[in-house]
Amino acid sequence: MSFFEKLETFAYRNIVVPLQGRTTFDFVGEHYSKGMKVLDFGCGTGSNSKLFHSEDYIGSEVDISRVESSREKYPKYKFEKIPIINSSKNLLPWEDNSFDMIFVSLCLHHINTKSCKLIFKEFRRVLKNDGKILGIEPALIDGKYFSNILMNILDAGDYILPLDKYKNMYRSESFKTNHINIVKTFGYNLWQYSSVVVGDKSTEFKNDKTSIRKITKPIHLLGLYGKWLVLIFVIYTTIDFLINMFGSV
Ligand SMILES: C[S@@+](CC[C@H](N)C(=O)[O-])C[C@H]1O[C@@H](n2cnc3c(N)ncnc32)[C@H](O)[C@@H]1O
Repeated sequence: MSFFEKLETFAYRNIVVPLQGRTTFDFVGEHYSKGMKVLDFGCGTGSNSKLFHSEDYIGSEVDISRVESSREKYPKYKFEKIPIINSSKNLLPWEDNSFDMIFVSLCLHHINTKSCKLIFKEFRRVLKNDGKILGIEPALIDGKYFSNILMNILDAGDYILPLDKYKNMYRSESFKTNHINIVKTFGYNLWQYSSVVVGDKSTEFKNDKTSIRKITKPIHLLGLYGKWLVLIFVIYTTIDFLINMFGSV
């Protein structure tokens, strides 16, 4: 793991995860019971593994540095590196009908529609017949202008969508989605939902970045790279100050 990957993982685990507010994930307990086989898709640094029993849980992640960090921090749990799914040749490394639940937390808004549809096809394949998806995503809410803009400035994901768009994207891969709740945390509106398979057809669903994202992306990028520039500047000026102070003694 490179120094910057370690720094990003550290910042994500110690700043972003605590800001999410862990009660946000309490709803999982109402849908999961011990013995259900769970795939945590896009598990990040593994912090949600604790919501499940270790024997039931597999965390999957495309970012190997996060997989390694999760394995270190939660040694009782299983974490797997998976391929980025952006063509029908990329498959999840599990057999058909493997899971009772697929948990998708704060992940879809990082992925474009074409890839989401391929991922949903894979979800359909690896879910058991009576299995379900349990998810939580930041969502644009009508009339909530401030948080809609703030989420798009703070978040790295290019695809924060209105609830209906997420639902329609699932529907286009034969999932029926049920609204659970919307919770507010640190300027975010997080939509909790569950989805079940109701068929095996794929229909067309096209989508692009929202206009809010197109406008706010430059501000997001400034914050993203600016923080490392500020850190380097602070370290440089501190060292320079110390050298000048003690070097001249
Ligand atoms: C905001 S993190 C969420 C992590 C974790 N699920 C949580 O709730 O804390 C989003 C995760 O999605 C993963 N991700 C990004 N693009 C992806 C893709 N195309 N396919 C699968 N996972 C992806 C990232 O590696 C990242 O760990």
